[in-house]
Amino acid sequence: MSKFYITTPIYYVNDKPHIGHAYTTVLADVLARYHRLMGEEVFFLVGTDEHGAKIEAAAEQAGKSPREFCDENVEAFREAWKSLDISYSNFIRTTDSSHEKAVSNALEYLYKKDFIYKGVYKGLYCRGCEQYKTDDDLVDGKCPDHQTEPEVMEEESYFFRLSQFGGELERSISGGKLKIEPAERKNEVLSFIRNGLQDISISRKKIKWGVPLPFDKKFTTYVWVDAFLNYLTGLGWDGKISPRPPLKKGGERRGLKFWPPDVQLMSKDILRVHATIWPALLLALKIPLPKKLYIHGFFTINGQKMSKSLGNVIWPKQLTEKFGADGTRYLLMSSLADGHDGDISWEKLTAKYNTDLANGLGNLVSRVMNLAKGFEIAVRDGSLKIKSEKVRKLLDEIKPKEALDEIWKEVDWANKYVEETRLWELVKTNKKQAKRVLEELLAGLINIAENLKPFMPETAERVIKILESGEIKKGEILFPRI
Ligand code: MSP
Repeated sequence: MSKFYITTPIYYVNDKPHIGHAYTTVLADVLARYHRLMGEEVFFLVGTDEHGAKIEAAAEQAGKSPREFCDENVEAFREAWKSLDISYSNFIRTTDSSHEKAVSNALEYLYKKDFIYKGVYKGLYCRGCEQYKTDDDLVDGKCPDHQTEPEVMEEESYFFRLSQFGGELERSISGGKLKIEPAERKNEVLSFIRNGLQDISISRKKIKWGVPLPFDKKFTTYVWVDAFLNYLTGLGWDGKISPRPPLKKGGERRGLKFWPPDVQLMSKDILRVHATIWPALLLALKIPLPKKLYIHGFFTINGQKMSKSLGNVIWPKQLTEKFGADGTRYLLMSSLADGHDGDISWEKLTAKYNTDLANGLGNLVSRVMNLAKGFEIAVRDGSLKIKSEKVRKLLDEIKPKEALDEIWKEVDWANKYVEETRLWELVKTNKKQAKRVLEELLAGLINIAENLKPFMPETAERVIKILESGEIKKGEILFPRI
């Protein structure tokens, strides 16, 4: 059986999950469900990033120990993913002791193999990004993402020999061994790498909240190095590198049955590190690279960047309370076109819900089922697979919006067909012809429901049940108008 391994970024646990996190996670879930439906063995990893300066400071501000703070905050993520019907295989926390142990083992190996050396670091550090910044990264001296001036940091530090991997990374990415999609993103990353990579500091002296470096316990591990390894530890990897033989395909022996990731999802904010530090660590550890990084767009709200200070953040809870789990999943997946940013607002979301779900799909199902009363029409949800080849192709290409547009062509066709045939008259005047029209419509509906399984699992099941039982219960409404 072929396997499919998909990951989301592990989100910083100091924030509550917002619509951006929800988007990435729902997209991963849609792809995970799709590949399961196609008969593949799927591993779907989510989690939280819990170490480092940002979390340490947030915990202090909350008057809590970092551990207590993380334990409390992680619940918001679990709840959000539950309310959105996220079918993850594992939820990894970087404070899990097995993860910490594996990070320590891996660092020990990298140090022994001389991929890590000691030096002095001086640079500008943005705490919001947990990243050093170059002058080129700043706008008016400030981090453009956090609107804060980075701090000058100078400290003894351990470095990872990132510079040594530039050539191999360039070849892997340009040759498609490590795919980066969409193509603009790949080109951006390639030109960054071609400008030359520098060694990076992977230790922090002042930060207590992190994994101690195994070879010098005065230091903790740079949070990004710690975080990247989640993609391995989330599968049960213990960080032990056996000297020989190099990892075989599959890598079952080291808890890496599902390795490498088929798709790693993220947005552009964290692409650069994922296309440099992350694969370089893997090369140093002699572990195969992920097959693909897929970079989706960013949401803006009413044309503005989403931020707490602007008070315009949209939370998953607000969405699921208003639109339900499946309604929210639909609205999220249809709001960003392939790789592009998208602007949303409550007005736009509500309008789309009413048009596509309440008046579109919901109305279609109840109308057709009411007209089908008294007719004997056999329908069966025969196949496990997604029926439409076009929808499959679009999901293989990670184009959820385009796939939904495709499915909605059939919804629109069906609604029009009811009108054109004046089906409500036909069922009275010409039973034979009405039956033929109804057969076509029900076949269309079953198609729609099957294609919707990865996107709206509960709705798909409900529609299939309604179709199989041949009737819709009185008053049953799939999507109440808002
Ligand atoms: N902890 C790191 C990731 C470590 S992975 C080894 C991190 N966390 S984060 O909480 O900031 O999450 C960033 C990710 O959240 C983005 O890459 C994207 O997947 C999602 N989004 C955050 N804001 C977003 C929007 N406004 N729009 C769309 N997605 C966004 O970075």
